[in-house]
Amino acid sequence: MKIENAKIVRGEITVPPDKSITHRMIFFASLSAGKCEIENPLLADDTMKTIDLVKSTGVNVSVEGNRLNVEMKNVREPASPIFCGNSGTTTRIGLGFLSRLPIFSVLYGDESLSKRPMDRVTEPLSKLGAIFDGRNYASNLPISVRGGKIGHADYISKVSSAQVKTAFIVAALNGDGISTYREPFESRDHTENFLKSLNAIEKTGNTIKIKPSKIPPFKSTVVGDFSSAAFFVTLGVCHPNARVKIKGVGLNKTRTGFLSVLKKMGAQIDVSNVTQDFEPYGDLTVESSVLEGIEISPEEIPLLIDEIPLIGLAGAFAKGKTIVRGAAELRTKESDRINAVVSMLSSMGVNIEEYPDGFKIEGGQKLRSCTIDPSGDHRIAMMAAIAGVCANGVEIKNPEIVSISYPSFFEDLKRVIS
Ligand code: S3P
Repeated sequence: MKIENAKIVRGEITVPPDKSITHRMIFFASLSAGKCEIENPLLADDTMKTIDLVKSTGVNVSVEGNRLNVEMKNVREPASPIFCGNSGTTTRIGLGFLSRLPIFSVLYGDESLSKRPMDRVTEPLSKLGAIFDGRNYASNLPISVRGGKIGHADYISKVSSAQVKTAFIVAALNGDGISTYREPFESRDHTENFLKSLNAIEKTGNTIKIKPSKIPPFKSTVVGDFSSAAFFVTLGVCHPNARVKIKGVGLNKTRTGFLSVLKKMGAQIDVSNVTQDFEPYGDLTVESSVLEGIEISPEEIPLLIDEIPLIGLAGAFAKGKTIVRGAAELRTKESDRINAVVSMLSSMGVNIEEYPDGFKIEGGQKLRSCTIDPSGDHRIAMMAAIAGVCANGVEIKNPEIVSISYPSFFEDLKRVIS
């Protein structure tokens, strides 16, 4: 796909529903003892894999307009191995979900997912009593799970990961006693937000106490995905003639570290119409901005983990140095995102240095056009498109992979550029 430079960026868009929240609502609804309704779910490739997973264990899922109806009927053993596609969230929270069920199941994924670390979930879930086997001793897919007998455990995680935290909590909610989970820095807290109202968890700093609890039937509405909005925020602040409004965006503070960083860089971003539901949401109006380079500290990383590639792009448009450290986790995402950012920006002519856990950019040069192969990574494909619109165009191989999280990305992009 060829993307041209745009002269003007103007207009309004509504980004798709939040991917993380949709995955969680499907899993929690499947564990509830009754019919649940999820309004405005994200129906993209990744979340469809979570729907496939729960359906294969006996959950009824139907789409009615913009609503998902979810109800566990009778638990059954999946008839065949479950394909998780490209979705780390389906796999990791799915392993927590399957640990609770008295069945045997096998998960496998695409080439990228098969390389991603799964011992970070199989280790804590084993401590809770689930039995795993798989490649590299259940460190990589394919992985088998034998679940059904959950005890309790106190676990200190080496990684700050909301997927691992959620997998542990999902299993521990069905345990035979109180469990605790601690992570180094706080990761996104959608799971805790949902469970707070059930009195199922207590959070002190980064330690969570989980009491065995049932999930009553619920109705929930999914807010817009901040990580999808972030592409248009970047477009607005980096393009020299831009003003764009992004409506209905989730503004959970464990997701919006990117906004704080951009504001510190000098970005003009106005947040309006904020509504406090079980997740806060509002509108973002973004304008062309004069940006200054910035240094990101390790504790900020989990709060902007999926937006770090975009910090690289904003850094390329900023005056001075932008430095990201403590972000080694990025190497374990859908692709090695440190390497992907470094190779994309250096082929566009940006002066960028790669570190094991981040990168350093000397911003302010003119970006040139090039061809980008996003190596099957949806966020890298969308970042390339934004870079091309702001600078001198770009050619993107396999652009269709945006359907993993944002199926209408290119239509939305076309709507605001001319
Ligand atoms: C997610 C958590 C993050 C994030 C991913 C979605 C979630 O991953 O990168 O896109 O829904 O919990 P980690 O938990 O591995 O950091």
